[in-house]
Amino acid sequence: MGQSEKAAKNAPPRSHTGEALRHGVHASVREDTTPVRTHPWPQPGPRFEGRELELLAEALRQNTLSYVHGHMTQRLCARMSELTGAAHVVACSSGSAAIHVALKACGVGPGDEVITAPVTDAGTIIGIIYEGAIPVFADVDPVNYNLTAETVAVRLTQRTRAVIAVHLAGCPADIVPIAELCRNRGITLIEDCAQSWAAQVNGQWVGTFGDMGCFSLNDYKHISAGEGGLVITNDERLHRTAALAADKCYDRLTRARLMEFVAPNYRISELQSAVALAQLDRVEAIGARRHALGQRLGNGLAATDGLLPHEAPVGAYSTYWFYLIQLDRRFTANDVEDFAKAMNREGIPGGRGYVRPVYLAYPYLIRQSAFHHSRWPFTQAVSPQPYAPGLCPVAESVFDRSYKFPLSEWLDDSDIDDVIRAAQKVSQRLLRRVADKPPSDGDLEGIRKSPGKVHEL
Ligand SMILES: Cc1ncc(COP(=O)(O)O)c(C=O)c1O
Repeated sequence: MGQSEKAAKNAPPRSHTGEALRHGVHASVREDTTPVRTHPWPQPGPRFEGRELELLAEALRQNTLSYVHGHMTQRLCARMSELTGAAHVVACSSGSAAIHVALKACGVGPGDEVITAPVTDAGTIIGIIYEGAIPVFADVDPVNYNLTAETVAVRLTQRTRAVIAVHLAGCPADIVPIAELCRNRGITLIEDCAQSWAAQVNGQWVGTFGDMGCFSLNDYKHISAGEGGLVITNDERLHRTAALAADKCYDRLTRARLMEFVAPNYRISELQSAVALAQLDRVEAIGARRHALGQRLGNGLAATDGLLPHEAPVGAYSTYWFYLIQLDRRFTANDVEDFAKAMNREGIPGGRGYVRPVYLAYPYLIRQSAFHHSRWPFTQAVSPQPYAPGLCPVAESVFDRSYKFPLSEWLDDSDIDDVIRAAQKVSQRLLRRVADKPPSDGDLEGIRKSPGKVHEL
């Protein structure tokens, strides 16, 4: 049975569970209490070396750190274009800025609806609200945790202006059908690739399937310039507007201060561009290493009763920014918590879940008041958005039942094998104590009410 089917199914109690329960108490007495992993977990190696230093020195020798006068940002954009195949690139100050710029370039404005995933970083949402548009959350796929064409389709209205498809954790969304849906309906598609550097679908970089793709260079991502963002597109008109949107609506080609629309200063500096340019030389190797480790982990977990690997769609190449191991529906939220703690005791890093769906986690969404005393833009919604439990059931349940393993390129195969052995050991132990009852929403309630976990920027 494929993992998708495994996940979609509310797995009935298995016969061996009863058997395990019969033997469970005695079996646990004999259990191996030696942790799977006793030696220290690998620490990250150096991320910035000779090439970064060289290019930084070169940037300083330009005697300007402005992208308008220096060459590092131009070279960064040219290299990104070469890597992705996108015709145009705009560099800016962050991934959040990149998404905001893309929304502005695509003409998203007050009262428009933008469909996006609820399992994401704040950076996906910020630009929507700043442009006075309404975030509309669609549910995610149960094994790759991204929007699907089907979940987007049920949220479409006359007001839908754009879709932001997040490629979460290095794992591409099933983007081809989403792009087709958007094209057929005349809706803009922006891809949020902040967590998915070098990820591909059918050999093509994510970010090149929609109208615009957005990347983050913050320090937690596959590659880093400390901060920074890139927007890619094949559309010359979008490129021009995006360049204006990132730089106060100043046209740096004609030197005109156009001021056709209000735009922030989201400029990148030449120092950031120098580091990012050097980092682009590493990005495919980092992606390939993470891909290999993630595949190894997935293969090792595939046959493990009770666990669902983080599975990319057919044709997708995932570069695993992190790896979610999902526990099937026989487990309660408390079991998931126990799984995480037991994994740590086995010497494996990680913790429960990634983030709660943002509409349940962000006070400004729950209150529908993002700008102090005002309820704009939410008051403009034609049909008010119910940001409440039940809006995206898969997203709500999946993230209550997942263990987030911090996969990185600094690991080797034996580290991954330790994760597999620990996950098998812990899940078997937990399965023995799982009661033969279907889950109830009540099982998850406690977790939803517990304070949210702060995750990476
Ligand atoms: C999915 C996603 N989108 C957008 C962003 C925003 O990127 P930045 O932090 O560079 O603004 C992030 C960063 O964490 C992200 O993970």
